[in-house]
Amino acid sequence: MFSKATYIARRAQLKKRMGSGLLFFLGNDDQGLHYEENAFRYRQDSTFLYYFGISAAGLAAVIDVDNDREILFGDELTMDHIIWMGTQPTLRERSQEVGVEDTRPAREISVYLQRAKAQGQVVHFLPPYRAEHRIKLMEWLGLPLSAQEASVPFIRAVVAQRNYKSAEEVVEIEKACDITADMHLTAMRMIRPGMKEYEVVAAMEAVAAAAGGATSFPTIATVNGQTLHNHYYGNTIRSGDLFLIDAGAETAMGYAGDMSSTVPADKTFTTRQREVYEIQNAMHRASVGALRPGIPYEQVYDLSARVMVEGLKGLGLMKDSPEDAVREGAHALFYPHGLGHMMGLDVHDMENLGEIWVGYDGRPKSTQFGRRSLRLARTLEPGFVITVEPGIYFIPELIDLWRGENKLADFIDYDNVEVYKDFGGIRNEEDFLITEEGARRLGKKIPLTPEEVEALR
Ligand code: GLY
Ligand code: MN
Repeated sequence: MFSKATYIARRAQLKKRMGSGLLFFLGNDDQGLHYEENAFRYRQDSTFLYYFGISAAGLAAVIDVDNDREILFGDELTMDHIIWMGTQPTLRERSQEVGVEDTRPAREISVYLQRAKAQGQVVHFLPPYRAEHRIKLMEWLGLPLSAQEASVPFIRAVVAQRNYKSAEEVVEIEKACDITADMHLTAMRMIRPGMKEYEVVAAMEAVAAAAGGATSFPTIATVNGQTLHNHYYGNTIRSGDLFLIDAGAETAMGYAGDMSSTVPADKTFTTRQREVYEIQNAMHRASVGALRPGIPYEQVYDLSARVMVEGLKGLGLMKDSPEDAVREGAHALFYPHGLGHMMGLDVHDMENLGEIWVGYDGRPKSTQFGRRSLRLARTLEPGFVITVEPGIYFIPELIDLWRGENKLADFIDYDNVEVYKDFGGIRNEEDFLITEEGARRLGKKIPLTPEEVEALR
């Protein structure tokens, strides 16, 4: 937990920005995995953590801006809880640690909210993303599902704070990045033909657990790297495979790291693997070189895509002008996702608040295939923590679909692409803090160039 002053200052800034109304924060509860008492790993809501710092189930909070009150609602532990869960600080003690003096029993939240509504106060809440949130909004605010409209001013006020990481947050994120790098180094060293993917996953996740935290999202560790978010770990690694890893650690305080790497199953890349790997590296280097405050991230994405088209032209897979190919969306056959995202208390920071507000500053997103998956497009500013993760993939079904439609055939040599359909995918990913002068990579370096990767194998 940060110091009391941090949480008090965060809430004060939020109150100032909102000016009026009642801000209602839904904490997260435990969720049964296959019966109620056997729950998923508990994770507090990140906005709740940001303003109230307490990671515990059964809490709700209000910042009543109109009446200048901050209240935490929740129940003190009973003797039964203590018998089964051990001695815990009381809610009162925990709330004092984050500068909240007013704690009340959970059952009072409903009355408080109903009274506020009756008195004409505007009750703001953030987008619900769990069924339990929706039930609480029904029970406590009397809102049917169709009327559970989150507050755009509240969303914008939270984004305007959480998008800018403070120095103490950067220290915490960098811790997550260091553990993340160790997860990758462990995997990159151990992969051998004959192993199961899940053996690699187990070793990586042990690193995150041994550092006192957990993973920041479901690990991707696969011989089928062409599947962007592949969570199947049952394949045997074979000689000649490429192995794609996308994994991150979350610190005990909830901050995330997120890196990707791609290694050959053998000690060295094949010539064909290395050729495509070099192109992905060139995309990565060009993107990192362009990071600075004032540049729209969509421009950096365009640059990475043009570098890929230029490289794939060299292999005979693409043709014509890179500018035209990227404008028309032809690159997306091989690069159907964005360049990166904000990162903080969520690996895709504040994704539940809406990419439009977090990554686009309210601007509408493109609907073009590939470009529409850009999570972050807005102009970079000092204090943003972002990922850089260009990729190149050969997705057989997508290639067949486009080929069948002769789609954007001016830019794609489908005959030559055909022989790459068994290639797999390559992605490398690093995390950066945007600074006044440019950008700083966060966490230990993991191998990126083919030489660096092979040296580790
Ligand atoms: N690390 C997974 C992603 O960024 O989508
Ligand atoms: Mn990522």
